[in-house]
Amino acid sequence: MCDSCKKKFYITTPIYYPSDKLHIGHSYCTVATDTMARYKRLRGYDVMFLTGTDEHGQKIETKAKNAGITPQQFVDNIVTGEKGVLDLWKLMNISYDRFIRTTDDYHVASVQKIFKAMYDKGDIYKGKYTGMYCTPCESFWTESQLKDGKCPDCGRECQPAEEEAYFFRLSKYAAPVRKLLTETDFLEPRSRVNEMVNNFIDAGLEDLCVSRTSFTWGVPVDFDPGHVVYVWVDALFNYTTALGFMNDKYDDYKDYWPADVHFVGKEIVRFHSIIWPAMLMSMGMPLPKKVYGHGWLLLDGGKMSKSKGNVVDPYLLAERYGTDALRFFLMRTFPFGSDGNFSNELLISCINTDLANDLGNLVSRTVAMVQKYFGGKLPAEQEADPALDDALIAMASELHGKYEEQMEHYAFQNALSEVFAVISRANKYIDETAPWVLAKDESKKARLARVMYNLLETVRICAGLLTPFMPATAEEIRNRIGAETYDWDDLCVYGKLDAQTTVTAGPALFPRIDAEKELAELEALNAKPEEPAEDPLPEPLPPVSFDEFCKVEMTVVKVLTCENVKKSEKLLKFTLNDGTDTPRQILSGIAKFYKPEELIGKTLVAVTNLPPRKMMGQESCGMLLSAERGDKLNLVMLDDSIPAGARLV
Ligand code: MSP
Repeated sequence: MCDSCKKKFYITTPIYYPSDKLHIGHSYCTVATDTMARYKRLRGYDVMFLTGTDEHGQKIETKAKNAGITPQQFVDNIVTGEKGVLDLWKLMNISYDRFIRTTDDYHVASVQKIFKAMYDKGDIYKGKYTGMYCTPCESFWTESQLKDGKCPDCGRECQPAEEEAYFFRLSKYAAPVRKLLTETDFLEPRSRVNEMVNNFIDAGLEDLCVSRTSFTWGVPVDFDPGHVVYVWVDALFNYTTALGFMNDKYDDYKDYWPADVHFVGKEIVRFHSIIWPAMLMSMGMPLPKKVYGHGWLLLDGGKMSKSKGNVVDPYLLAERYGTDALRFFLMRTFPFGSDGNFSNELLISCINTDLANDLGNLVSRTVAMVQKYFGGKLPAEQEADPALDDALIAMASELHGKYEEQMEHYAFQNALSEVFAVISRANKYIDETAPWVLAKDESKKARLARVMYNLLETVRICAGLLTPFMPATAEEIRNRIGAETYDWDDLCVYGKLDAQTTVTAGPALFPRIDAEKELAELEALNAKPEEPAEDPLPEPLPPVSFDEFCKVEMTVVKVLTCENVKKSEKLLKFTLNDGTDTPRQILSGIAKFYKPEELIGKTLVAVTNLPPRKMMGQESCGMLLSAERGDKLNLVMLDDSIPAGARLV
């Protein structure tokens, strides 16, 4: 079928904040989205799978400032840098069709037009904002929305804030949004609807502050300089600008919008199920068909974070167990709509039980027997035994329907349970038919051949349906059993594998893991403090002429005395021999890095022609040279052989 005749399916993940190191929890939603996208492709849909990064906001501006680089450099490092977002999606074999960065020019220009359109319509107006602001969440809250005086999303302190700002008339859309949530299945799982309706809509939906003036790293409001668009307005519209809405970059809006489903984590359901439809209503745009709010992957019962250790590092986990095993574990172990507690024990047990024992064994035993008994190619003559075969054949034949039912409801875990029920049945069938006994009797060759065929055919159907979850493994199995394709229609029919197929052996698909040894190794790895992420390099400075450089007087000095400055945590006070008769006093903010006594007698370098300045009421005549990066600082030290007063040349 040509692409334009195919049914379209548009699915999205939340676009990630490139502000923190990604952990396995971040992969959860994207792996689920990838699984769904691959499933729909398998079903013959023309799929658009969008993901990306949400790069604006105060948090990024602040982090970049702390790192001494521009916000753009900061986000570039995390998105395109080594082990960044793009690398992670490659590692996890994420088959996205499009990647949007909210700093992309076309997106910025589109958001400006969208903002203006809502303003022209009267749905955005200028007012004054007074409220509480949670910087990490980039969220404004009213006093009544705070939980115990803290941010209701993350539980952290909020700061009072007041600024001139634009507001979106969210209150105007309370009734239609309420109707959408309560009378349609727009939001799933349905358990999330009550929370939205009771806590947010019925509690009184206030207009939403949609511009900021307290920082600049955002989409500028082009008709009112000084204002930048609230990051959530900018971020949510990515789902449409990435298709070409209000820009010429793409031309896919009419084909793919409205989205079939937005997969989002539970803490951002509010933005997607209330604010997003309200803004789309304001723009007169069709609404997405569904928002699915999945649960969190927890660690020790709490939200996962990279600071909790290496165990949640997707790179480490994929390196040890393989990408497919990791993808499989995420989808097999936790129901998608609920929270799940991640642990290494669970991961290893899932790999050993389902993948090594059940699936891996079935494939390797079957292929090995076909090789041993038939030299790798099944003979044409085969003899069925309905009493023994029919139960397995029935299960394998019906599998696609049960699997489809679960997949269409985003019940990944249940879909996998259906597949693994058939895999277990096939392993049992081996015991029931005892091929090794049949092999001893020449007259049972045809029967043996049919037993092998039933096993290979069951493997084909199961592995084909596992493609969305474990694409590389499914492909490997396809090659080993000699199947030509995993066409969906063929997966719905038992008997599509060539009766005289040829098999190819290979190494164990999932070697069994020695759980005790592995857990001990992981524990040791986790105990090792993680290498702090290297701070990005500071921006290069403009060139200076040699003459200018020579104007800086850098002198070798010897430390005569050194002490902490009272009431200052940072400052050390030095008296230094600079080669003249008068000791020189310099104050330096390095108390965090050195104890005073360890510096006495050391040979350092000072800039000695700076104008004196007062620090904590004391005069500092010059500056000691040191090198600094991240949380490391070293004073420039020379050996004692060079006398005080020598110049650096
Ligand atoms: N930038 C916003 C989304 C804007 S969409 C228009 C955002 N970014 S995020 O990087 O903080 O989170 C991205 C997704 O990762 C969210 O859906 C969030 O729920 C998910 N997860 C982050 N940690 C997670 C777990 N521990 N477990 C499961 N999902 C988690 O929110």
